Amino acid sequence: MLGVSLSAEDDLDGWRDAARALAGAGVPAGEVAWQVGDAAQGLFAAEAPLPPPGPGFSVPRAFLTLAETVICHADPERFALLYALLLRLRDRPGLLADAADPLVQRLERMAKAVRRDIHKMRAFLRFREVETPEGPRFVAWFEPEHHIVRTNAGFFVRRFAAMRWSILTPELSLHWDGHALSEGPGAARADAPQGDPLEAVWKTYYASIFNPARLKVGAMLKEMPRKYWKNMPETALVGELVAGAQAREAKMVEAGARGGMGGNVRAAWESVRAEAMACTRCPLYRCGTQTVFGEGPLDARILFVGEQPGDQEDLAGRPFIGPAGQLLDRALEEAGVDRKAAYVTNAVKHFKFERRGKRRIHSKPDAGEIEACRWWLEQERLLIRPPLTVALGATAARSIFGKAVTIGAMRGRVHPLPDGGEAWVTVHPSFLLRVQDNKEAEYARFVDDLRRIGERAEALA
Ligand code: URA
Repeated sequence: MLGVSLSAEDDLDGWRDAARALAGAGVPAGEVAWQVGDAAQGLFAAEAPLPPPGPGFSVPRAFLTLAETVICHADPERFALLYALLLRLRDRPGLLADAADPLVQRLERMAKAVRRDIHKMRAFLRFREVETPEGPRFVAWFEPEHHIVRTNAGFFVRRFAAMRWSILTPELSLHWDGHALSEGPGAARADAPQGDPLEAVWKTYYASIFNPARLKVGAMLKEMPRKYWKNMPETALVGELVAGAQAREAKMVEAGARGGMGGNVRAAWESVRAEAMACTRCPLYRCGTQTVFGEGPLDARILFVGEQPGDQEDLAGRPFIGPAGQLLDRALEEAGVDRKAAYVTNAVKHFKFERRGKRRIHSKPDAGEIEACRWWLEQERLLIRPPLTVALGATAARSIFGKAVTIGAMRGRVHPLPDGGEAWVTVHPSFLLRVQDNKEAEYARFVDDLRRIGERAEALA
C-alpha cells in the first residue's frame, strides 16, 4: 500500500501532483491510501516514496473542473474516487459523458452537494458589526457541510472588498483587512457575536419581502435548512410569518389591487435608508457631507441609477438636483416620462471629490467603492422590485451587472436581470453636459432612449 498525505482537506494541488505520478507509474486505485495532514503522520511514518513517473497522459478539462469541486466534499473517499476515475479516463477519454456510469454519477452528485454548500454560504452567512480599536469589523459565523471556505473566499473578498471582516468556521477562519486576506485556525460559535443592531433591519426587511402567496414550507426548509436559521436574524420571524400567511396573503391581494405594497415595504426601506446614513462600508463616508440615498415612490415602475451625488446633491441630501439632474428632468419631460413616478438613486451614495481651492471637483468612484455600495442599490431594488432598472452611464451599469460593461454595446436594448426585471442602459446626463461634438444629436438620442424606456414601462404595466 502506498500512502499519500495531503496538506489540507481541499489540497487540490497535492492531490493532482500525487495522482499524476501514481497514474504515470500505473499504480492501481486500490493500492493507494489518501490521508490529510496530521492524521497521515503516524500512518505513513514509513511512507514509500512516490513511484518514478511513467509516460504522462492528458485528461479532459471537464475532469479538472469536477476534481476542483469534488475535492471540497466532506467524504474521505473523495481522493480515491477521483483517482479511480482518472485511471479509467486514460482508456476511455469520453467516460465523463456517460451519465449512467456509477462512478461518474457518484462524483457528479458529490460536486452538486459542494456547489449547493457554496451557494448556501453565500446566501445564508450574516455579518454582525463589532467595534474594534481600528474601527468597525464585521464578523460572521458559518458551519459549512463541506470544505468550501477557502474556495468561497474570493467571493466574499470581491463582494465586501471595502469592509473589514472575519468569517469564523469550525475548520478555519478567514480575515480580510481591506487589502489582504489571511487565514486563522477554526473557531467556535461562541467566538462570534450573536446579535447587533443590524438585526432589526434584517427583520423588518425580511418581513417585507416575505411573500405568503409563494409559501411552500417544504421548499423553504430545503433552501434554508434549520441548521442555518439560528445565524439569521430574520428567521426569528419565520414561524410568525407562516402562521399569519393566509391573512397576509389576503391583505397583499387587497394592497395589490390598490396598487400599493402596504406599510411593510416603506418601513423596511426606512430602516435600510437609516442604516445607509451611517454607512462606513468604504472610505467615502469620510468624504461627503452625508449619504445621499434614493428617493421616489416605492412602487415605481422605473428605477434610475446614476453614478454618485454631485456637489449640490451632497449638500441637499437628494439625488439628481444639480445641473445633471436638471438636464435629466428636461429630457424626461420631453420623453413623456414622469420623474415623480420613478425612483431615482445612485450606484455610489457618497460624493467623492478633490478639493481645488474652494471648489469640490467630482472624482470618479473606483471599482472597490462601487462594489461596496452595490449592497445598498441591491436593497433598494429588492424592496422596490422595479420592472425596469435604468443605468445612467458606466458606473451605474457596473453596479447593476456586477461587472464593467461598455455603454455603446449595451445601449437601447433589454437586458434581463436575475430577479425577473429588465435593465436598460443609456448615457449619463453629465456626459451630455460635457460633450462637444454632436451635442444636440446626442441629447436627442438620450431623449429617444428615455421615450422607449417609458413606453416599455407602460407596456409592462
Ligand atoms: N450625477 C449623478 O450620477 N447623480 C446625482 O445624483 C447627481 C449627479
